[in-house]
Amino acid sequence: MSNGLILITGGSRGIGKGIAEELASAGYDIILLAKSKNNLKKTKDQILTKHKVKIDTISCDLSDSREIEKAFNYCKRQGYKFMSIVHSAGIFIEGCNLSSSIDVYDAMMNVNLRAVYYFTKLFRPLLDTSKKCTIVIIGSTAGLEPYTIGSIYGIAKWGLKGYAINLRQELLKDGIGVVLVNPGSTITDLWEGTAHPASRFVQPKDIGIMVRACLSLSAGVVVDEVTVRPLLGDIHDE
Ligand SMILES: NC(=O)c1ccc[n+]([C@@H]2O[C@H](COP(=O)([O-])OP(=O)(O)OC[C@H]3O[C@@H](n4cnc5c(N)ncnc54)[C@H](OP(=O)(O)O)[C@@H]3O)[C@@H](O)[C@H]2O)c1
Repeated sequence: MSNGLILITGGSRGIGKGIAEELASAGYDIILLAKSKNNLKKTKDQILTKHKVKIDTISCDLSDSREIEKAFNYCKRQGYKFMSIVHSAGIFIEGCNLSSSIDVYDAMMNVNLRAVYYFTKLFRPLLDTSKKCTIVIIGSTAGLEPYTIGSIYGIAKWGLKGYAINLRQELLKDGIGVVLVNPGSTITDLWEGTAHPASRFVQPKDIGIMVRACLSLSAGVVVDEVTVRPLLGDIHDE
């Protein structure tokens, strides 16, 4: 029997995929949401070869409000009720405050911050509060300190931290917990071409294990915030 239904944005690759695999292994049914239909299908097929859970996929460009509305209408028509929504979709574009174009700023804010705000606002009625109910937001250590290789990305992640703190306060009366998970450097496509070995990074599975643990605690408990870094520090620390 299923442990409940969880929607994961960015579930087709990287950290979102690591979370999806870990939650599927714990018996949760999963909705994977991302842009690329190919990536979604590949990840769905991979998970289904290992785990006997239900998986649906939604192709949606989170930078477009109308696509978020379409995704919401689809889930409503299907009668989906989620015990958790995990916001993992995100983009990274290198660039600093004074040298980047306004287009880089807009693109980064749209996917990394605005989409999380709008998605949560729309999907709130589809959260099942009859049992433990949790919104998980994947932030970053870039939202805890200066981030010199991508300060605009850092601004979006600081915004996400502020969003999580306020959302947690707003939703606690409804019995919905909000967890902010801040990964440090994690080996995903974002680090393509890195000279460092994979062992120097956090693994996507580590974040999956952490999210699974947060969802396993008793219904009256929430992990406000958790930071998971490479033992030797984030890569930009060197
Ligand atoms: N990797 C790190 O070191 C690190 C560290 C701290 C925090 N994070 C955060 O972790 C999250 C996941 O990053 P990652 O490293 O796993 O990146 P990734 O491997 O590049 O995966 C990004 C995921 O987000 C989806 N996505 C991107 N833009 C989208 C859009 N406009 N609409 C819908 N889906 C979109 C991608 O879908 P497609 O397959 O369709 O492109 C993919 O599933 C991000 O929020 C990132 O900021 C990463």
